[in-house]
Amino acid sequence: MRIDVLTLFPEMFQVPFSFGIFKRAIDHKLISINLHNIRDYTHDKHHTADDYPYGGGSGMVLKPEPIFEAIEAIKSEIHFEEEKNTLPIILLTPQGRLFSQQIALELSGYSHLILICGHYEGIDERVREHLVTDEISIGDYVLSGGELAAMVLVDAVVRLVPGVLGSAASPIDDSHTTGLLEYPQYTRPPVYREWAVPEVLLSGNHAQIAKWHREQSIIRTAGRRPELLNKANLSLEERQKIDRLLGKQSKVV
Ligand code: ADE
Repeated sequence: MRIDVLTLFPEMFQVPFSFGIFKRAIDHKLISINLHNIRDYTHDKHHTADDYPYGGGSGMVLKPEPIFEAIEAIKSEIHFEEEKNTLPIILLTPQGRLFSQQIALELSGYSHLILICGHYEGIDERVREHLVTDEISIGDYVLSGGELAAMVLVDAVVRLVPGVLGSAASPIDDSHTTGLLEYPQYTRPPVYREWAVPEVLLSGNHAQIAKWHREQSIIRTAGRRPELLNKANLSLEERQKIDRLLGKQSKVV
């Protein structure tokens, strides 16, 4: 997978992309991340990327020309019309659709993504109307720029690209992948400060352990994020157990 990022601050990406799974994925050529400084696509001697908003108002607005030209330069390297026409061009903005594991999964299916990090008070609306194909927000709060949001998105997407995580099974149990939160995890020692690891996990009985994992995921989700249970894939028996847990009357469907 190739990811191109348009930003005013490419240096911000150096540290997170130099460690852990990113470094390994880049070294193994499973992903390539190309950083583009929006200012490199300006033509004046001050490399002006922003300007005052028409109609007044506070703050500055990112100009359209360097962003269009940067994307056109990236697209000119693509030889297949089909890829050019379906390539997601994503603007990170608090006005976008709310990012989720589902969206991460959807984006991990593409071989190429372009991310645009907004800044200042906003971005010229013509970029939204005539260039961008998707807008994503990482949460209902306002960051000072799209860079941190782009890093969050890239992290969540890249770890779903086949081969990026050491063990192919590991993303399957992640919180949110199943629609439930992940069960509690333990490692050695079996007793620490008199706190023992649940006995079933030491039993070697894989069926019992899988049952415990599932129950714990459901209990944890019911306690912390009960709204997730509505969309989770649960059996009738599991639904009834939750209703008992939450003190509700079971509905037979
Ligand atoms: N830029 C500023 N705030 C943002 C957010 N919450 N998500 C994505 N991009 C942003």
